[in-house]
Amino acid sequence: MNKPLDLPVDAAVPQVGPVVGTSRVHESAALHVSGEATYIDDIAEAQGTLHAALGLSPVAHGRLLSIDLALLKKQPGVVAVLTALDFPGENNCGPLLHDDPILAEGDLRYLGQPVFAIIATDRELARRAAGLAKSAIQFEALEPVLTAEAAHALSQYVLPPMHLTRGEPQAELARAPYRLDGEWAVGGQEQFYLEGQISYALPQENRGLLVHCSTQHPSEMQQLIAKAMGWQAHQVQVQCRRMGGGFGGKESQSALFACVAALAATKLRRPVKLRVDRDDDFQITGRRHGFDYRWQVGFDDAGHILAAEVDLISNCGHSADLSAPVMARALCHFDNAYWLPHVAMHGYCAKTNTQSNTAFRGFGGPQGALAIEMIIDSVARRLGLDPLLVRQRNFYKSDGSGQDMTPYGQRVEDNIIQPLTDRLLETSEYAKRREEITAFNAASPVLKKGLALTPVKFGISFNVVHLNQAGALVHVYTDGSVLVNHGGTEMGQGLNTKVAQVVAHELGVGLNQVRASATDTQKVANTSATAASTGSDLNGKAAQDAARKIKQRLATLAAKLLGGAAEDVRFGGDHVHANGTRMPFTELVSKAYFERIQLWSDGFYTTPGLHWDRAKLQGKPFYYYAYGAAVAEVLVDTLTGENRVTRADVLHDVGQSLNPALDIGQVEGAFVQGMGWMTMEELVWHPKTGMLSTHAPSTYKIPTANDSPPDFRVALYDQPNRADSIHRSKAVGEPPLLLPFAVLLAIKDAVAATGPARCDPHLRAPATAEAVLDALAGH
Ligand code: MTE
Ligand code: HPA
Ligand code: MOS
Repeated sequence: MNKPLDLPVDAAVPQVGPVVGTSRVHESAALHVSGEATYIDDIAEAQGTLHAALGLSPVAHGRLLSIDLALLKKQPGVVAVLTALDFPGENNCGPLLHDDPILAEGDLRYLGQPVFAIIATDRELARRAAGLAKSAIQFEALEPVLTAEAAHALSQYVLPPMHLTRGEPQAELARAPYRLDGEWAVGGQEQFYLEGQISYALPQENRGLLVHCSTQHPSEMQQLIAKAMGWQAHQVQVQCRRMGGGFGGKESQSALFACVAALAATKLRRPVKLRVDRDDDFQITGRRHGFDYRWQVGFDDAGHILAAEVDLISNCGHSADLSAPVMARALCHFDNAYWLPHVAMHGYCAKTNTQSNTAFRGFGGPQGALAIEMIIDSVARRLGLDPLLVRQRNFYKSDGSGQDMTPYGQRVEDNIIQPLTDRLLETSEYAKRREEITAFNAASPVLKKGLALTPVKFGISFNVVHLNQAGALVHVYTDGSVLVNHGGTEMGQGLNTKVAQVVAHELGVGLNQVRASATDTQKVANTSATAASTGSDLNGKAAQDAARKIKQRLATLAAKLLGGAAEDVRFGGDHVHANGTRMPFTELVSKAYFERIQLWSDGFYTTPGLHWDRAKLQGKPFYYYAYGAAVAEVLVDTLTGENRVTRADVLHDVGQSLNPALDIGQVEGAFVQGMGWMTMEELVWHPKTGMLSTHAPSTYKIPTANDSPPDFRVALYDQPNRADSIHRSKAVGEPPLLLPFAVLLAIKDAVAATGPARCDPHLRAPATAEAVLDALAGH
């Protein structure tokens, strides 16, 4: 079970001993629970602050004819109404393509699209005026395309199709002893960050602007605001101390709100805050892409996959946003942990009249890997084999057989999936429980149990090479206290804690000596989004680099003062050790100041060895892989369709953990979040109007603490990363989101227990009670 947490330490007590690799509380834990942690809406409002609200398109598709500005302007409290025409620069907030209007211009692309912004003296009045959108917007309605299937039939895409092929899948499919084809779909998923999208813009002197923004990507917010304003980037400062969750939803889509607040503040020369409420956040922003799949697979009687061909159709919504790298990651995760000798994948990015879908924990990886997991499960059921056996037979091998090459040309060099799975099978007592469940099901006509194991292999690095860079600043003040600032953002994942641990370790001081400060575009420039789980890999290394430069200078001084060679000086236990003697760190720092030695430094890091041909989808996109596996046991009521996870066993690879407590928290959180996607989070758009009906927690159900497995056994596979990552740790943010595929497949296993031998129930995801009843009825 989990290791006990260190309790918050009294700041006055110096901590000794190792820092990296130990369980330390989240740097803001006490602030989170006491309510002291400052989110954007908690920042004291400057005098004269105005509030913005957005008027939304009432139709899914149409031509925008006019906006009744006079009606809007005369509403109580309204100070200004802004439209697309007010942007002095480009009316675009698309991160990659310029196809994402900030405010609608010419056409209306989805129901909920922001068309105008109301700026009023208070938030309620702004919202009331914005609520008049239906009467203020004149439009000519056009036929909307509301599903990916419909868009695909029309070849209506936001990006050209992507194809990734290895070998001769068609010929091998024809030659295979067994063949199976199928269609399947998985829904999208709302990020449901607890802090909704928000930006607070404050005009500064000389055409400058400070924007407090809840964003994973301050640098891109800076760039997009500058472009929208027709400014230079140096005029815009974007700051983010922390987010109340991002989950990918604030990688690009914080931009619209930042740009509107920035425009309003600049135009009116007043501070302007834009905080959307939950319903509007649902209606305006996109989420995880739902995927449709069509597949064909050829296999032998042992279940070896000989060839596969699959169409992956993602519902992108009205614009490209991040859909290209999302689809690329989906294609690069269709293999998951399996060697597929002959394979063809076709990725179609369908353009629909809905919110523009975006990053969500896993970034297409889950949608890719889920497809092969469903396929393998079907293959096993058709052959009457335990799916576990078929999985193991298809694992990537590291035995020199050549079965270690991914379809995109990267060799799987760090493969630990077999030993990791073996250990989990043992600790979870899989075989014994499989027998018990078979016996239980034989005796229980209504309640059925199911069991499944699924593996995870997840590629770590941005799949766009140049994004794999980071910078940091470390300041040592004359009293020996340390401040670290880096390009990453804190969204609850504990990045600041890990980076502070790295710096404390390097300088040999207690963690309480190190403080992390808000992410700020005026500190580290040109940062990447905190995404792709790379936050601590990249920023940890950059901060280590900065700390090492300072350490080097201090070591030279210590050798001069204490004797011995600079290379032999050691930092630890709040002391500097040299020549058999030691000096307190604080004393050495103070001496260094008087010696006029620079006590702060920058640091920089780029991930080595990456290359990627975006057109051919070939290369080495990932520095390493993170692995994991989960065994889920579920109980299904076959009369009502209700289902529960009764036990989950997880073994997850985080390399040599920087902080086991935080890592276990990430694994547990990702598991429950992924379980929500697999079992209960269902998005429903009205089939005619395109209105998102599930736009609030009343209709869109995310898992709560009560839904987490009552028996939840999470362990870390404690082996150092083979790649030279920060202290040989591995990224943890996204990979464990794929673990709860085991939950979906365990539910399918329970449903199969009610059918004839070798049946392969058609269970859709999310496996809501209705979906389970439909699957049961399908026997
Ligand atoms: N954990 C919390 N508590 N809140 C979040 O918003 N986002 C996830 C993951 N874990 C998230 C989280 C996503 S989508 C990513 S990419 C990573 O954290 C980003 O942080 P990291 O790179 O520092 O792990
Ligand atoms: N993850 C998240 N964001 C990204 C990625 C990725 O792999 N590639 C480009 N942007
Ligand atoms: Mo995470 S989806 O890469 O923000």
